[in-house]
Amino acid sequence: MNTDRIVRTFTDYFREHGHELVTGGTLLPPPCDPVLFTTSGIHPLTPHLEGRPHPLGRRLLSVQRCLRTTDLDEVGDRTHLTVFEMLGSWSLGDYGHSQSLRWGYALLRDGFGIPPERMYVTVFGGDDQVGSDDESSGTWRELGLPVELAGDENWWSHGPVGLCGPDSEIFVWTGAPGTPPQGSPTTWVEVWNHVSMRYRRLEDGSLRLLQQPNVDTGMGLERLATILQGHDSVYDSDLFEPWMRLLPPLWNLDEWSTRLVCDHLRSGIAVIGDGVRPSNTGRGYVLRRLIRRVLTTLWRDDPSRTLSDLPADLVRHTLDHFRQTGGTDLVRETLLDEERRFGTLLERGRRVLDKPQFKGLLSDEDYRYLHDTHGLPRDLVTTLRTP
Ligand code: SER
Repeated sequence: MNTDRIVRTFTDYFREHGHELVTGGTLLPPPCDPVLFTTSGIHPLTPHLEGRPHPLGRRLLSVQRCLRTTDLDEVGDRTHLTVFEMLGSWSLGDYGHSQSLRWGYALLRDGFGIPPERMYVTVFGGDDQVGSDDESSGTWRELGLPVELAGDENWWSHGPVGLCGPDSEIFVWTGAPGTPPQGSPTTWVEVWNHVSMRYRRLEDGSLRLLQQPNVDTGMGLERLATILQGHDSVYDSDLFEPWMRLLPPLWNLDEWSTRLVCDHLRSGIAVIGDGVRPSNTGRGYVLRRLIRRVLTTLWRDDPSRTLSDLPADLVRHTLDHFRQTGGTDLVRETLLDEERRFGTLLERGRRVLDKPQFKGLLSDEDYRYLHDTHGLPRDLVTTLRTP
C-alpha cells in the first residue's frame, strides 16, 4: 500500500463515520499557541478542544505536517524524522474514547490489513491524581487485544499546564512473517495514540475536568507506511524513494549521514515552503541549524560539495508532498544563500580559532567572546576544533 493510498484509506474511513477534513494547517501553529512549530495534529485545533465551536462540526480529521527537534541527534537511525505527518481524528465533545478505540482497531484490521495477533495496547494505569483507565482496558479486552498498564508514558499533555489526559497506545509487531509476535521489544512499534483529552492542568499542578471531554488521536504516517510496506527503515518507504535514488550517487556518504542529509533537507524545504527564512532566532534558527547540519555533514570529507547540486526534482517532490504551492527557485535560493553565509562564517571562524589564545581548553568566557564578538556559536566552535 503506497502512502497516498494509506492517506486515502484513513480519510475515507473517518469521513464514512461523519468526520470532516480540516485543511490548511501548516508547520506554524496559530498565534495563541506558545510552541515554535506544530508538533502534533492537535495544535491547529487547540482552541476548539478548549470549547470554541469548530465551523466544520464536532467530528474532525486531518493530515497534519509536524516538526519535532527533540530527537535531532537520533535522526539518521531507522525511524526518527524531523518533519513528519500525523493522521489525526477528533471528537470535540461528541463520541467517547471507547468508540474511538473501536474505530481505530477496525481501521487497522480491516482497512490496513494488520492481523489482530500483531497488535497490543497500553493503557494508563493510574497515578496519585487519576485512577486507572478501566473503560479503555475493558474495551480492548472485549476486542480481544492484550493490554498492558503503564504510568507516565500513557499520560499525554500539551505542556506543563493546559490540556491533558490518559491515552491508549496501539503497538504493531513488525517481526518477520511466520514468527510469533514476541521477543525483542524493538519489534513492537507504536503506531497510534488515542488520547482521552478531558483535563486541564493548572499552574499549581492540580487537574480540572474539561466541560467538553474530547478525543484526540494521532498516527505517524511515515511509520505506518514503513510497517505496511514491510520495511525496516522509514527511508526505505515510497516517500523517500526519489531521495534515496538521487542522493547517494551525488554525495557518497555513510548510511547514517545519507539519512540525516535526506531528513534535514526535506524538512528544511518544508519549513521554507511554509514561509520561514534562516535567522538567528526562533523558527529561523531551527531552519538555519538544519541547513548547517547538512553542510557540516557534506563538507566533513569534501568541502567542494554544494547544495546547488541538489536536484530540483527533490525540491518539487517535497513541496508537492506537503501540499505547498511555492516555487522551487525560492527554496533553492534560500538554501544557497545560507550555504554562502555559512561558508564565509567558517572561513572567518577558522582564522580566529587559529590564534594561539584559542588553542587550548576554552572557558565559558572564551565561548562568550567568540559568540558576541565574532558571531561564532558554541556548537560551531566545537565543530571547527574537532580534528
Ligand atoms: N496528541 C497526541 C500525540 O501527539 C495524539 O494526537 O500523540
